[in-house]
Amino acid sequence: MAKVKVGIIGVGEIGTTKHLEQLTTHKDEVEIAALCDVLPERCEAANEKYGISAKVYTDYKEMLQDETLDVIHVCTPNPLHAEMAIAAFEKGKHVYCEKPIACTYEDAKAILAARDAAGKQLASGTQWRYNTAPMEMKKMYEAGEFGDVYYIRSSQLRPRRLPAYGVYTNKELNGGGVLMDGGPHSIDLPMWMTNNYDVASVRGVTFDKMKNFPEGNDLGPWDPDNFDVEDSAYAMITMKNGSMFYVETAWCSNMLQEAPGIVCSIAGTKAGADMVGPGFENTVRVTKMVDGKLTTESVDPENKYNMWAYDMDKWVEAVTTGSEPAVTGEQAAVVTRVIEAIYKSAETGETVVFD
Ligand SMILES: NC(=O)c1ccc[n+]([C@@H]2O[C@H](COP(=O)([O-])OP(=O)(O)OC[C@H]3O[C@@H](n4cnc5c(N)ncnc54)[C@H](O)[C@@H]3O)[C@@H](O)[C@H]2O)c1
Repeated sequence: MAKVKVGIIGVGEIGTTKHLEQLTTHKDEVEIAALCDVLPERCEAANEKYGISAKVYTDYKEMLQDETLDVIHVCTPNPLHAEMAIAAFEKGKHVYCEKPIACTYEDAKAILAARDAAGKQLASGTQWRYNTAPMEMKKMYEAGEFGDVYYIRSSQLRPRRLPAYGVYTNKELNGGGVLMDGGPHSIDLPMWMTNNYDVASVRGVTFDKMKNFPEGNDLGPWDPDNFDVEDSAYAMITMKNGSMFYVETAWCSNMLQEAPGIVCSIAGTKAGADMVGPGFENTVRVTKMVDGKLTTESVDPENKYNMWAYDMDKWVEAVTTGSEPAVTGEQAAVVTRVIEAIYKSAETGETVVFD
C-alpha cells in the first residue's frame, strides 16, 4: 500500500511533541512530506530531529497546492483553525485539526460542511479521554456499573501551569484563554464517557484574577501587560437527559486537586467513581454499597493506555482504511459550542439555552 503523504501546518509545541512524535512511529503507513510554519527554522529543526526530509513552506496556501498531499494537520493557534481546515478540505485533503476545532460554533459548522463537501475525514485533538482512567470509567459506565449517572465533575485546576509561550494570553491571537486551552479536554471528558453530547443549557463564569501573579509558573513567567484572556473558568452544563456536568478549568489555582491533570468524578445511583493520581497512570476509586456497607475500593485498570498513541493510531487507521476517527468533528463542534456559550453566559450573567 502506498504511504499517505502528510503535511503539518504549525510546527510548534504540539505539532512537534504530539503530531510528529506519533506520526513518525507509523513509518510504513505515513510519510511526512511537508511542514509549514511562519518560522521556517522550526520546520528545518523538525526535519533534522526526526530524520525526515519534508518540503518546508512558510505559506500554508502554497503547501496546499501540492496535489500529492493526502492529509493536513492543523497545529496553529486557534483563530487560524477554521480557515486552514476549510482550505485543506477545498483541496480534497483529510484534516486533523487541533483542539478547539474552531473558536466559534459558526466556524465549526463551516468546517463540518467543508468536510462533507469534500467527502474526507476530520478529527480533532481532545486525546485526553484516552488515558487509562477515563477509558476504565467509560467501560464501567457502558457496563451499567454506575446505574443512573446524574452528575459528573470535570476538574483541571493546574497549580501554576500557564503556557507562557506562544500566544495563549492574547485574546485576538488565541481566541480566548484557559477555556480554549484546557477547556476542550475538560468539556469533552464527561460527554464522551457517557456518550452524551446533547446539551440543554450552559451557565458559566470566567475570571482573570491570577494574571498579576506570574511568579512560580511551571512554564516560565508571562507578561501581565499582554494578558486579556480568562485564567480560570467554571461552568454548569445541563444535559437533555437531565444529568449535569460541572466543569472547572484553571491555569493557576491555589485550590489543589487530588491528582494532577484532568480528573473526573462520577455520581450514579448504583456507584460513583473518582480518578486518583498520579497523572497519566490514574487509577479509579469506586464507591458503592456492598452487602449493606458503603465501600471505597481502588481499581488498578488491567488495560493501560497511552493517549497520544491511541489517538494518532486511530487517525492513521481512519485515513488509510476509512474507519471513524477517534475524536469526531461532530463531538468537537459541540465542545466549541459549549465554550462559546460559557463566554456568552459569563458576559451576560444569564444561562444560555441550546435548541
Ligand atoms: N491536544 C492537546 O493536548 C494540545 C496541547 C497543546 C496545544 N494544542 C493546540 O495546538 C495548537 C497550537 O498550540 P501550541 O502549543 O503548539 O502553540 P505554539 O505556539 O507552540 O505553535 C504554534 C505554531 O504555529 C505557527 N504559526 C502561527 N501562525 C502560522 C501561520 N499563519 N502559518 C503557519 N504557521 C503558523 C507558529 O509559528 C508556531 O510554531 C493550538 O490550537 C492549541 O490549542 C493542543
